[in-house]
Amino acid sequence: MLRARILSTGSYVPSRRLTNAELEKMVDTSDKWIMERTGIKERRIAAEGENTSDLAYEASKTALDRAGISADSLDLIIVATITGDMPIPATACFLQHRLNAPNAAAFDINAACSGFLFGLSATNAYIKSGMYKRILLVGAEALSRFTDWEDRNTCVLFGDGAGAAILEATDGPSGVMSVDIHSDGTYWELLNLPGGGSKHPPSKEAEANRMYYIKMKGNETFKIAVRTLEKLVLDALQKNNLDASDIALLIPHQANLRIISATASRLGIGMERVMVNLDRCGNTSAASIPIALDEAASTGRIKEDDYILLEAFGGGLTWASAVIRW
Ligand code: UT7
Repeated sequence: MLRARILSTGSYVPSRRLTNAELEKMVDTSDKWIMERTGIKERRIAAEGENTSDLAYEASKTALDRAGISADSLDLIIVATITGDMPIPATACFLQHRLNAPNAAAFDINAACSGFLFGLSATNAYIKSGMYKRILLVGAEALSRFTDWEDRNTCVLFGDGAGAAILEATDGPSGVMSVDIHSDGTYWELLNLPGGGSKHPPSKEAEANRMYYIKMKGNETFKIAVRTLEKLVLDALQKNNLDASDIALLIPHQANLRIISATASRLGIGMERVMVNLDRCGNTSAASIPIALDEAASTGRIKEDDYILLEAFGGGLTWASAVIRW
């Protein structure tokens, strides 16, 4: 049976750190509030001229170097992002061009913070069907470009960065065991970026109404996230006949430490078995899971044969889980 196995990972975050102390000078907030309500200490901000495809390129280059393969061996490039360089073309096409990967088809996926796992679902299906053998999957975001720096409800949350994974077909026992993706558009208003699309095309009015920035009803989103993730992770374990004690590491989407702890506690997993980097990276949407995955893999927190559980929740609403045997 064909399976998708992660050959290598890579990640990249911009060098500029934006601390809570700096945010205190920008909006009516405090380090104490941000730490207590979110767990975030600082986030990274892309430099001027550093775009989503540039972040994706750095992460992908590391993943390719670590795998010891060249970009022309890639069959497909998928970039999960909600902050692409341009509406057209896909950021994956910019990435393909920069990597010099002429044999790869390239497209983007928009599933907000669940984007990387939605991309993993597509990757898994392509590989299992035999259609493609080697796929580069990236989550990359320059959220700072779409953050309303006058809105304290959102501007303290987001950060920029990218994470990449190269997956290839294997008939061995390791790899992606399951990926489950879900959506409920009923709740689209909880998290959106209203301007610039066909509903609110570019206009002075859209600009005046600050429609080109991300809007979030945080508290409502929070409550649905906690409820939904609880069921999601238990279902993922059950589907794989696994117990929480079989999971070496939980790698959650990095939105809020309280959401992460609630999910871990529901599973009975201690925080020492949970990957957390939102204190340093903030919420990087589709990039959060692959950055955390790369950090875990490159610091020895995942070993051969370990089971890891990935879970995400985001705008759409969307939510997703994956179980991977390393
Ligand atoms: O990544 C995709 C999915 N996103 C999520 O999962 C995020 C889910 N939501 C959250 O993480 C949390 O809801 C937030 C961190 C966004 C907010 O935390 P909260 O505990 O839900 O706070 P709240 O929105 O209920 O606001 C509580 C109070 C309000 O003041 P009043 O009305 O009680 O006077 C806010 O105005 O905190 C106020 N507030 C702030 N105060 C200081 C909101 N933002 C700030 C801020 N600094 N930055």
